[in-house]
Amino acid sequence: MLERLIEEARKAQARAYNPYSRFSVGAALETKNGKIYSGCNVENASYSLTNCAERTAIFKAVSEGEREFLRMVITSSSSGFTPPCGACRQVMSEFGDFSVILVDGQGQMKQYQVSDLLPCGFTL
Ligand code: THU
Repeated sequence: MLERLIEEARKAQARAYNPYSRFSVGAALETKNGKIYSGCNVENASYSLTNCAERTAIFKAVSEGEREFLRMVITSSSSGFTPPCGACRQVMSEFGDFSVILVDGQGQMKQYQVSDLLPCGFTL
Protein backbone atom coordinates (compact mmCIF):
# COMPACT_ATOMS: atom_id res chain seq x y z
CA MET A 1 0.00 0.00 0.00
CA LEU A 2 2.90 2.37 0.70
CA GLU A 3 4.19 1.60 -2.81
CA ARG A 4 0.80 2.56 -4.22
CA LEU A 5 0.84 5.86 -2.30
CA ILE A 6 4.29 6.68 -3.66
CA GLU A 7 3.12 5.86 -7.17
CA GLU A 8 0.08 8.15 -6.80
CA ALA A 9 2.26 10.96 -5.41
CA ARG A 10 4.63 10.61 -8.37
CA LYS A 11 1.72 10.64 -10.83
CA ALA A 12 0.34 13.82 -9.24
CA GLN A 13 3.85 15.33 -9.26
CA ALA A 14 3.91 14.87 -13.03
CA ARG A 15 0.73 16.98 -13.25
CA ALA A 16 2.19 19.96 -11.33
CA TYR A 17 1.21 23.32 -12.81
CA ASN A 18 4.47 25.15 -12.19
CA PRO A 19 5.36 27.57 -15.03
CA TYR A 20 7.03 29.98 -12.57
CA SER A 21 9.19 27.79 -10.34
CA ARG A 22 9.47 24.68 -12.53
CA PHE A 23 9.49 22.78 -9.24
CA SER A 24 7.10 19.81 -9.13
CA VAL A 25 5.61 18.42 -5.93
CA GLY A 26 3.25 15.47 -5.51
CA ALA A 27 1.28 14.35 -2.47
CA ALA A 28 -0.85 11.28 -1.85
CA LEU A 29 -3.10 11.18 1.19
CA GLU A 30 -4.53 7.92 2.51
CA THR A 31 -7.78 8.07 4.47
CA LYS A 32 -8.54 5.77 7.39
CA ASN A 33 -11.07 4.00 5.19
CA GLY A 34 -8.47 3.21 2.55
CA LYS A 35 -9.09 5.86 -0.12
CA ILE A 36 -6.29 7.85 -1.72
CA TYR A 37 -6.45 11.53 -2.70
CA SER A 38 -3.50 12.95 -4.58
CA GLY A 39 -2.47 16.54 -5.25
CA CYS A 40 0.09 18.64 -7.09
CA ASN A 41 1.23 22.22 -6.72
CA VAL A 42 -0.84 24.70 -8.72
CA GLU A 43 0.93 28.02 -9.31
CA ASN A 44 -0.47 31.39 -10.28
CA ALA A 45 0.84 34.54 -11.98
CA SER A 46 0.00 36.26 -8.70
CA TYR A 47 2.62 34.11 -7.00
CA SER A 48 1.17 34.12 -3.49
CA LEU A 49 -1.99 32.37 -4.67
CA THR A 50 -0.04 29.20 -5.39
CA ASN A 51 -1.48 26.09 -3.77
CA CYS A 52 0.97 23.46 -2.57
CA ALA A 53 0.56 19.78 -3.44
CA GLU A 54 -0.17 18.86 0.18
CA ARG A 55 -3.03 21.32 0.54
CA THR A 56 -4.42 20.34 -2.85
CA ALA A 57 -4.64 16.71 -1.67
CA ILE A 58 -6.17 17.63 1.70
CA PHE A 59 -8.74 19.99 0.17
CA LYS A 60 -9.72 17.38 -2.42
CA ALA A 61 -10.25 14.78 0.32
CA VAL A 62 -12.17 17.10 2.66
CA SER A 63 -14.40 18.33 -0.14
CA GLU A 64 -15.28 14.70 -0.86
CA GLY A 65 -16.33 14.20 2.77
CA GLU A 66 -13.12 12.68 4.19
CA ARG A 67 -11.62 14.01 7.42
CA GLU A 68 -9.77 11.06 8.93
CA PHE A 69 -6.31 10.47 7.58
CA LEU A 70 -3.70 7.78 8.12
CA ARG A 71 -0.71 9.06 6.20
CA MET A 72 0.54 11.34 3.42
CA VAL A 73 3.43 10.71 1.03
CA ILE A 74 5.27 13.72 -0.45
CA THR A 75 7.53 13.52 -3.50
CA SER A 76 9.14 16.24 -5.60
CA SER A 77 11.39 16.93 -8.55
CA SER A 78 14.27 17.60 -6.15
CA SER A 79 16.81 14.82 -5.58
CA GLY A 80 16.49 15.45 -1.83
CA PHE A 81 13.58 15.42 0.59
CA THR A 82 10.88 18.10 0.33
CA PRO A 83 9.44 18.91 3.75
CA PRO A 84 6.05 20.64 3.74
CA CYS A 85 5.88 24.44 4.12
CA GLY A 86 4.52 26.07 7.25
CA ALA A 87 1.10 26.79 5.75
CA CYS A 88 0.65 23.14 4.80
CA ARG A 89 1.73 22.02 8.29
CA GLN A 90 -0.99 24.21 9.81
CA VAL A 91 -3.60 22.81 7.40
CA MET A 92 -2.45 19.23 8.15
CA SER A 93 -2.77 19.83 11.89
CA GLU A 94 -6.42 20.76 11.45
CA PHE A 95 -7.09 17.12 10.57
CA GLY A 96 -5.24 15.27 13.29
CA ASP A 97 -1.87 13.71 13.90
CA PHE A 98 -1.30 11.52 10.84
CA SER A 99 2.04 10.32 9.42
CA VAL A 100 3.90 12.33 6.80
CA ILE A 101 6.37 10.35 4.71
CA LEU A 102 8.93 12.21 2.61
CA VAL A 103 10.39 10.30 -0.33
CA ASP A 104 13.55 11.56 -2.04
CA GLY A 105 14.73 11.04 -5.61
CA GLN A 106 16.50 7.79 -4.69
CA GLY A 107 13.40 6.37 -2.99
CA GLN A 108 14.74 6.86 0.53
CA MET A 109 12.15 7.82 3.12
CA LYS A 110 11.81 9.91 6.25
CA GLN A 111 8.71 9.58 8.37
CA TYR A 112 7.23 12.17 10.75
CA GLN A 113 3.99 12.81 12.56
CA VAL A 114 2.17 16.09 11.94
CA SER A 115 2.84 16.89 15.62
CA ASP A 116 6.61 16.56 14.98
CA LEU A 117 6.38 18.97 12.04
CA LEU A 118 4.23 21.53 13.87
CA PRO A 119 4.88 21.54 17.59
CA CYS A 120 2.72 23.98 19.54
CA GLY A 121 0.42 24.63 16.55
CA PHE A 122 -2.52 27.03 16.62
CA THR A 123 -5.92 25.54 17.39
CA LEU A 124 -9.29 26.96 18.48
N1 THU B 1 5.57 23.52 -2.91
C1 THU B 1 4.70 22.52 -2.61
O1 THU B 1 3.82 22.17 -3.41
N2 THU B 1 4.82 21.92 -1.41
C2 THU B 1 5.78 22.21 -0.49
O2 THU B 1 5.79 21.63 0.59
C3 THU B 1 6.80 23.21 -0.77
C4 THU B 1 6.58 24.01 -1.99
C5 THU B 1 5.48 24.17 -4.22
C6 THU B 1 4.96 25.57 -4.21
C7 THU B 1 5.55 26.12 -5.49
O3 THU B 1 4.72 25.79 -6.58
C8 THU B 1 6.85 25.35 -5.65
O4 THU B 1 6.75 24.22 -4.80
C9 THU B 1 8.10 26.14 -5.30
O5 THU B 1 7.98 26.70 -4.05
